[in-house]
Amino acid sequence: MTYLLGLDISTTGAKALLIDATGNVIASATTPLSLSTPRPLWSEQNPEDWWEGMQASIRQALTQTGIAAGDIAAIGMTGQMHGLVMLDAGGKVLRPAILWNDGRTSAQCDEIRARLGKERLIQITGNDALTGFTAPKILWVAENEPDVYAQARHILLPKDFIRFKLTGEYACDRAGGAGTLLFDLKTRTWSPEVLAALDIPAEWLPPTYEGPEITGRVSAAAAGSTGLAEGTPVVGGGGDQAAQAVGVGAVRPGIVALTLGTSGVVFAATQAPLVEPEGRLHAFCHAVPGRWHFMGVMLSAAGSLQWYRDTIAPGESFDTLTADAATAPPGSEGLLFLPYLSGERTPHPDPLARGAFVGLTLRHDRSHMTRSVLEGVAFGIKDSFTLIQNAGLGRIEQVRVSGGGAKSPLWRQIMADVLAAELVTINTTEGAAYGAALLAGVGAGLWPDVDAACESSIQITGSTQPGPDSEAYQQIYPHYQALYPALKGEFRAMAGL
Ligand code: XUL
Repeated sequence: MTYLLGLDISTTGAKALLIDATGNVIASATTPLSLSTPRPLWSEQNPEDWWEGMQASIRQALTQTGIAAGDIAAIGMTGQMHGLVMLDAGGKVLRPAILWNDGRTSAQCDEIRARLGKERLIQITGNDALTGFTAPKILWVAENEPDVYAQARHILLPKDFIRFKLTGEYACDRAGGAGTLLFDLKTRTWSPEVLAALDIPAEWLPPTYEGPEITGRVSAAAAGSTGLAEGTPVVGGGGDQAAQAVGVGAVRPGIVALTLGTSGVVFAATQAPLVEPEGRLHAFCHAVPGRWHFMGVMLSAAGSLQWYRDTIAPGESFDTLTADAATAPPGSEGLLFLPYLSGERTPHPDPLARGAFVGLTLRHDRSHMTRSVLEGVAFGIKDSFTLIQNAGLGRIEQVRVSGGGAKSPLWRQIMADVLAAELVTINTTEGAAYGAALLAGVGAGLWPDVDAACESSIQITGSTQPGPDSEAYQQIYPHYQALYPALKGEFRAMAGL
């Protein structure tokens, strides 16, 4: 038998997933990771903890199955995007990694826009400067920790640190690279213009590879500590969102992946390096060679429902809550919910945006409030859809939905109605690690390309069509859209109170 291994360094765990050559999952092991927030807005992890956790998970996955390590044809890497790992000339970690959800770099984002001009920045990289991205973090270290900066010789993303530990090679996949804000979206590699403008030495950045390309092989040392076979090829893989999209088959235009986790992500593959002119959508390289993608990120999707349950109905099951919500009519009798509980990324990149219930009357009870939370999240997701369609993507044929929020049939129906699109569920639920394993399979020659890998492994298990309420939601949507601009100034003022 031939097997494939997908490795995912997420914020919460180091996961090793083994699949066989037909795409069946045969083992999955995750070692939990903790997050450190030493100061307000800071979010850090120690890269050596990732490696400890990953070695344990790999050993566990191998032991669970008892397979011969030599039967693993290739390994695919994925993980949290945008994080900054700085190494010295000898490959030693210089400071804790600064993560994707770290918010300390507002001043550096302004600085980047000032140095390049916002328009030029978006033209080259596809994106505006966001605090979570890698480039402003490098500037922050240069300004605030000059001793660390002086010793820096290598910059890696989290998953590429694990790759380095496994293979001894410095390398980066193109989907992850595009999330650094140092990439030229069109040429799919580091932008000399951006690097020069930010005074970042080009030699600090590793060579870049497409998702299925082989970047190196497991070293003797890593084979010893993980139980893997020396020489096993390691492919580029992709940032977690691109790998997740491969794992659900969102690899060509027309198929959109919608992930309803704590955050909500809308991911749409494109054939060309399209850009949303104001940078309100992320535009990155896909983990599929020669393809790109748009991405909209809502910070509190299922997280809104979780907050609502914990606050308004502690201890209540989600099933009871949503059954109750089903008794309220579509539109919740004029009650609207804004889901900006932790600020927002798409379509309003605003850390000061706040959540709100707007339109409460004496008639409203808990069923209306629950329903309006489900609807508000659906409207927020529709904002990303609208931006994607307006940015030139064309028709969306199918939405592949996954994540905890996708388990509720009512929420799926509201989503299909609001988005006016068919929503389907699929058989694969292992997320980014699964996509990374498929990319490894393409690299190992098991499938001719990523499309073929997805077609042979991913099946549709259910479908939700837009129903009779869809029309009503199209009428309500403009009212939802009008609320953020109306309240934005007040949100800002409230932050200062
Ligand atoms: C993507 C993003 C998150 C992180 C953490 O832009 O910020 O998905 O990769 O998982």
